Amino acid sequence: MHELYTVLAEYYDAIYRRRVERIGKEIDFVEGLFENEAEREVRKILDLACGTGIPTLELARRGYKVTGLDLHGEMLTVARRKAEGEGLKIEFIRGDALEIDFEEKFDAVTMFFSSIMYFDDSAIQQLFNSVKRALKPGGIFIADFPCWYYGGRDGPIVWDERKGDERLIMTDWREVEPATQKLHFKRLVQIVRPDGSVMAFMVDDELNIYTPREMRLLAEKHFRRVKIYGDLHELRPNDRRYWLVAVK
Ligand SMILES: C[S@@+](CC[C@H](N)C(=O)[O-])C[C@H]1O[C@@H](n2cnc3c(N)ncnc32)[C@H](O)[C@@H]1O
Repeated sequence: MHELYTVLAEYYDAIYRRRVERIGKEIDFVEGLFENEAEREVRKILDLACGTGIPTLELARRGYKVTGLDLHGEMLTVARRKAEGEGLKIEFIRGDALEIDFEEKFDAVTMFFSSIMYFDDSAIQQLFNSVKRALKPGGIFIADFPCWYYGGRDGPIVWDERKGDERLIMTDWREVEPATQKLHFKRLVQIVRPDGSVMAFMVDDELNIYTPREMRLLAEKHFRRVKIYGDLHELRPNDRRYWLVAVK
């Protein structure tokens, strides 16, 4: 379970190189949401499921006071090293997003890159409750997610990246259970060393599919104002990635 966030944590940023390259645009969009949707000035942010800190560091670079929280110590080791390397002051906490116990401490809570899909019907309600408690009045919760239900390719999709002199070959495929809306995400990561030897890791993860309407209806039970955006713009009919924006 969660090999991507443990034994492969050091490879995470190389595997998601294209995401790393796009993070500036994502945070531009998120800053627009802070400006236009939040009902208070955003200075203090809790980045839940922060992983190796790809968005966390970008928020800190822009002057926000950020706390990053993640379940996996291996991911936080990478995040802390990167932050230190850039001289960024970020508090990183190892913990479960479901067990956070902050009281009106943050202006914004974020949860990037599909992490919200780890929470099933009952867990997501618990998550919304804890996030709402952690937010100050008028604070904003932002989370992005895809909906593979609508004909996402089942794969296999093969792609490659590099980390130093190692070559990474990823083979992804997905199996969707239509009745339970469970997504079984499978990835074979092969690391080819310069001498030709290969290390292979199998990632086998279970995620929960939410349609944008389901996500909105669930969030509306907990937040005063909820809106679903498309991917870095207002929602369009053919969008396949969504941004939940919820205001306390
Ligand atoms: C796809 S990664 C996203 C990482 C980061 N948000 C980003 O944008 O690159 C999902 C992250 O969720 C974390 N995670 C999964 N379940 C969690 C939980 N219950 N509490 C905190 N973190 C969790 C994993 O450890 C992993 O780092």
